[in-house]
Amino acid sequence: MQSAKDNKNPLEDLENILVSETDIKTRLIELGHHISCDYAQRELVIIAIINGAVIFVADLIRQIRLPVQLDCIRVASYCDETRPVQEPEIIDRIRLNLKGMDVLLIDDILDTGKTLSKITEAIIAMQPASLKTCVLLDKASPREVDFTADYVGFKIPDAFVVGYGLDFAERYRQLPCIGTLKAELQNPPVWS
Ligand code: IMP
Ligand code: MG
Repeated sequence: MQSAKDNKNPLEDLENILVSETDIKTRLIELGHHISCDYAQRELVIIAIINGAVIFVADLIRQIRLPVQLDCIRVASYCDETRPVQEPEIIDRIRLNLKGMDVLLIDDILDTGKTLSKITEAIIAMQPASLKTCVLLDKASPREVDFTADYVGFKIPDAFVVGYGLDFAERYRQLPCIGTLKAELQNPPVWS
């Protein structure tokens, strides 16, 4: 049974906003233009890492002026926590045949580097003509695996963020901006 508390605006759970809705809209136009120029006259296959990249990819592909094929790969590494609790695991695979295709792999955020490095390996094994990566956020956290994304929306400090696709225990993905949660709403221990 829902209480009045459950119905409050999830925006109120943010401690502060790191990237505003306007900043995101402006940056997506720039990124879409950049990608469209880099891949001019080619067809792009976009692979979205879901669930996190779902909102970013939905908005970004509408800024790309090229033929695009879209597929998703589902990866799990967090379990209701603010730090990854397991190695990233592919739990739903890519359906498209990527052999000989120009592939752009998109995720919401680059943190330890494990997710993108694992999925780029899996994609390379599918023999694409080329592979680049794009993230909305590049977190200034110590990388556990060396990884640099080709396209980055915003660099952010080392903090756990939610909104615009990024979740805490599957919540807050619908927020139009990106921010940090109030400390009392995060599971202890937060920064172990
Ligand atoms: P990595 O494997 O540590 O680079 O982490 C990438 C994945 O961790 C992303 O796909 C996100 O789903 C998740 N992630 C990392 N940092 C955050 C965060 O601050 N908020 C929400 N999800 C995050
Ligand atoms: Mg996630």
